[in-house]
Order: sequence, then C-alpha cells, then structure tokens
Amino acid sequence: MTLIQLTALPDGPYRLEGHVTILDRDGRRIPDRGSPVHLCRCGRSADKPFCDGSHARTAWKEDA
Ligand code: FES
Repeated sequence: MTLIQLTALPDGPYRLEGHVTILDRDGRRIPDRGSPVHLCRCGRSADKPFCDGSHARTAWKEDA
C-alpha cells in the first residue's frame, strides 16, 4: 500500500509526502520534484502549485 500524507503546516504550505503525479490546469504533468514537496496554500507563490516561501516573506496567516 502506498501512503500519501498531506499536512497543513501552521501559517504555511501543505507538506505532501509520498509520490503522486501533479498535473497543471491543462492536464500536463509537472516534473517530479521528489518527496516531500510543499504546495502553496496562501496564493502568493510565484511557483504555483509549489510554495516559494512568499507566505513567510509576507507574514501570511491562515486564519487572518
Ligand atoms: S504557502 Fe508558501 S508561498 Fe504560499
């Protein structure tokens, strides 16, 4: 059984552990970046769907 774990980090990205195929909005495969990867949930990343650290630089808070 393959275990995939998605964890919301406090005031930060989702941490995705395990190997999954990530597709862009046009259905094209995004090259594998290994595991874990961090997926943006603040909407501020310039490298979506991945986190680029913008949440920290802009002091994003998840429940603000
Ligand atoms: S969660 Fe890190 S840039 Fe959005």
